[in-house]
Amino acid sequence: MANAKPSSDQYNNVVNQQPVLVLERLSDELRRKLASQAVPVRILAEHPELAAPAAAMLSELGFRAVCDSEPGVEPELDRSLVLIIGDRFSPEFLNRVLTGPWTARLERIALFGRRIGIRTLAALDEIGFAYIVKSLPTPERLASILAAVDSSTTAAHQPPIRRQATCSTIEAGYDRLFGHIRAGDLGAAVTEARHAFNHFEALLDSAAAAHWLSIIQDYHDGTAQHCSLVSAVAMLFARSLGFSIDDQRRLFEVAHFHDVGKVHVPLAILDKPGPLDPTERTIMETHALAGYDILARSGLIASEVADVARDHHEYLDGTGYPLGIGAGQIADITRIVTICDIFAALIEQRPYKRPKTAREAYAILQLMDGKLDATLLRAFSTIAESCSSD
Ligand SMILES: [Fe+2]
Ligand SMILES: [Fe+2]
Repeated sequence: MANAKPSSDQYNNVVNQQPVLVLERLSDELRRKLASQAVPVRILAEHPELAAPAAAMLSELGFRAVCDSEPGVEPELDRSLVLIIGDRFSPEFLNRVLTGPWTARLERIALFGRRIGIRTLAALDEIGFAYIVKSLPTPERLASILAAVDSSTTAAHQPPIRRQATCSTIEAGYDRLFGHIRAGDLGAAVTEARHAFNHFEALLDSAAAAHWLSIIQDYHDGTAQHCSLVSAVAMLFARSLGFSIDDQRRLFEVAHFHDVGKVHVPLAILDKPGPLDPTERTIMETHALAGYDILARSGLIASEVADVARDHHEYLDGTGYPLGIGAGQIADITRIVTICDIFAALIEQRPYKRPKTAREAYAILQLMDGKLDATLLRAFSTIAESCSSD
């Protein structure tokens, strides 16, 4: 791990004056060489249009910049500085970054754009980028991202007011979503869900998972809490699996709508402060097919959203409900939601029961031998770990 990541007291400087201060924090020797143009700054950009402003900025600062795409240019990699500028670090770009010759021993800077996820950031951090700076950050987002890769920055820069606001927005959004579903206005519900995706992105980028999970766990409405947890955990999982932004949206949408059939379940059962009796359980289980009916008949939403609403309680060994289908008929996207759904249900905060910790919940998932997708479940261990508050 490279040392000298931005510390908490450097944070404000990074926000206000980056990237000049970042360059100032290079070793004196490298800085001298860069300033004398003995070695160039090598720029690797996810999109060509990101490279030009950086090159202009560097030459204004007196440095020589070389774009990675320039033919015939072979900067002295063992001594040069590499400036990596991404938008959202697509899997292809991340692969270029992680397999490039600069991954030997170098001081490096990664400047990154709006859509980079915390997992990607963690991957960049893991291979030892000395400085990771967001190109167009809000202070809260940069602080939280730095917090995600360097826990020493967490305490000083938690943005509690903004996080609470985002969470309230999400909870209110669920209220409206279910209102639209009850009113039979699926079009409005779909629009609501698309807005919600942006709020969840902001939430995930706002702090470490354990922090925002604890806020969602304080929601008063149990169904909103559950659906928010499933959606947020699913997004986290999608990011860690390296999903494209489009696939992240797909997974978010199916997770967001997975329990809409609960609008037909009486509140007395939904909010019952204790275990359900067999009759109540049967009524509760109707939500899967009810959700499918609501979503499939509309024609306003992808068919997989309805399929996941119907199938998310099915198990690979055929012991689930409502149809008891087996592995051959359960889509991958459903398998992902099922894992997130059970995990969320276990860590939910309800007045009548102590929530499981993330680690306890993951241990329970591991005991569901043959019911859940083993490969996905293994991959999910990193999510359970990042949701853990200890
Ligand atoms: Fe469900
Ligand atoms: Fe659920």
